[in-house]
Formats: sequence, structure tokens, C-alpha cells
Amino acid sequence: MIRKAEVKDIFYIVKLEKKVFNQSLGEKFILQELIDNPFSHYFVYERGNEVIGYIGFRVYDNQAEMMNFAVLPDHQNEGLGTELLTYTTNYLIDLKVKMMTLEVRKSNKKAQHIYEKIGFKVSHIRKKYYENEDGYVCIKEVK
Ligand SMILES: CC(C)(COP(=O)(O)OP(=O)(O)OC[C@H]1O[C@@H](n2cnc3c(N)ncnc32)[C@H](O)[C@@H]1OP(=O)(O)O)[C@@H](O)C(=O)NCCC(=O)NCCS
Repeated sequence: MIRKAEVKDIFYIVKLEKKVFNQSLGEKFILQELIDNPFSHYFVYERGNEVIGYIGFRVYDNQAEMMNFAVLPDHQNEGLGTELLTYTTNYLIDLKVKMMTLEVRKSNKKAQHIYEKIGFKVSHIRKKYYENEDGYVCIKEVK
């Protein structure tokens, strides 16, 4: 089930981030995003009381920027990431968002595949956006 992220999920989100990225945005940052930042929209994929995926966007006016997106390694390639992103982009469209942006590592072909499937297009390259690697800036325009 996909639902809005709540404070009780923070522990699991941090755990998930550490498993997926070997690092986390941190409990404090996520807590602020969930309770203090009116521009933030975070969702979790919950199965049997476990958070197995999550996604976060910030929305300013009619533009949305992806903050993070991950699915636990044991549950990847089951379609959950596509489901999460589809759900969230529809949610953002309901909020009247006209443009969504995200950054992705040049080497992250799986994420790029999903973004393309959902209608994101590569806009430009951000040189060394990641310490050791270039990133693609991708944009989805809502017509
Ligand atoms: C990116 C991520 C969120 C996707 O979630 P997921 O649940 O694994 O994705 P899905 O199962 O919905 O979709 C995977 C798709 O990628 C495709 N795929 C798998 N490996 C691939 C590869 N090496 N190159 C291209 N496509 C690939 C699959 O065929 C599938 O496409 P299809 O549904 O059209 O057949 C997840 O893999 C993840 O957490 N990755 C690590 C963190 C990350 O990269 N986050 C994004 C940061 S920008």
C-alpha cells in the first residue's frame, strides 16, 4: 500500500536509505521535511507493517523537485518503484504541478528507464553533480 509518510516511518526510511545508498539524509532532516516543511510531499510503500520503498518531492508553486526515491534491494525489480513514481506523479498533477525535475547518475540505467517510462526527458548534464560522476537533469512537463 502506498500512503503519505508519517513520523513513525522515519526510523524505517533511514534504515532503507542506509541499505540502498550506504548513507541517509538523516533523521533530523526527514523529520523536518515531514512536520515542518509545507513544500514537502513524502510517500512510503508499506507491506506487512514494513516500509519497503519511499519517495519524496518538494513542490514550489507549480514545480516539483524529487528529493529521493528508493526501494529495498530485496524488493527491487518487482514493479514497486514504477508504482510509487506513477502514484506520486499523479498526486503532483492533482496539485496542478506543471513541471517535475530530478537528477540521476549517468550510470543509473535502471532509474533512467523508469523515468523515461513515466515521461521524464533528459534536459541536460550536470558535470560532477555527484562527487565522482556526472548527473542527468530530467524534466517531465505536464501538458
Ligand atoms: C530505482 C529504483 C527506485 C527502482 O525501483 P524498482 O522497484 O526496482 O523498479 P521497478 O521494478 O518498478 O522497475 C524496474 C525497471 O527497470 C528495468 N531495469 C532493471 N535493470 C535495468 C538496467 N540495468 N537497465 C535498464 N533497465 C533496467 C526493469 O526491466 C524494469 O522495467 P520494466 O518495468 O519496464 O520492465 C530502485 O531500483 C532503487 O532503489 N535503486 C537504488 C536507488 C536509486 O537508484 N534511486 C534513484 C535515484 S535517482
